[in-house]
Amino acid sequence: MRDLLFAANWKMNLGPDDARAYMKTFRARYNRHERREAWFFPPAVSLEAAAQAARERADLLVGVQDIHWEPKGAFTGAISAPLAAQAGAKAALIGHSERRHVFGETDEDTRKKLTAALAAGLVPMLCVGETLAERDAGHTLAVVNRQLSGALGALDGAALARVIIAYEPVWAIGTGRNATPQDAGAVHKEIRSWLTARGVPRSRVLYGGSVNLKNIAELLAERELDGVLVGGASLDPEAWAQLVQAPAT
Ligand code: 13P
Repeated sequence: MRDLLFAANWKMNLGPDDARAYMKTFRARYNRHERREAWFFPPAVSLEAAAQAARERADLLVGVQDIHWEPKGAFTGAISAPLAAQAGAKAALIGHSERRHVFGETDEDTRKKLTAALAAGLVPMLCVGETLAERDAGHTLAVVNRQLSGALGALDGAALARVIIAYEPVWAIGTGRNATPQDAGAVHKEIRSWLTARGVPRSRVLYGGSVNLKNIAELLAERELDGVLVGGASLDPEAWAQLVQAPAT
């Protein structure tokens, strides 16, 4: 038995009313399991509703999908780490592939956002992963190392120890094509050795990309995975409750 983290990224789905209904169903279907946590990343407008529903359950936690690096000011439409924390967020996704590839986020942006999350007391979950072209060119590990160095390179061991990494190959996100447990395991090993070399021997590394009820058991059998970050298959609370209870050795 090991500690496992199941993170649901709702992306641009589920408003406040939906979030309340979702969390009610999820809580009814999922009782606390030893050594398992379920985290939820709702859209910012639903943070407070989801966080309210997660209170009194130490195994449930809510995080924000994206933050701006400035704490406050004239940044119309943006949300800062302290504002998200006030709405109930305890964690922040940083550098999700959709932020990088749809919204043009750079490694330097991820560095600033990650630093801002730490400053506000949020747990940063840094997403890294290669595109299909990068994988086919044999550049997977180089890309992941570049993304790690870009976001985390300036942090000391104490700060690094607070960061969770999610390996999400871009070609596996929303495509129905997941990485094999062995492929994911190899990249997770590389991520762990990057952190070990910088004084963090114990880190949490999740896998994301087309995780669903059919492949979860096989993925969790790979011991390099400390959990999963899930998009599409987390949107139905009953299915998500089932997935969070998937067997693992
Ligand atoms: P899917 O599970 O829909 O492939 O999305 C993965 C993801 O991007 C989670 O952050």
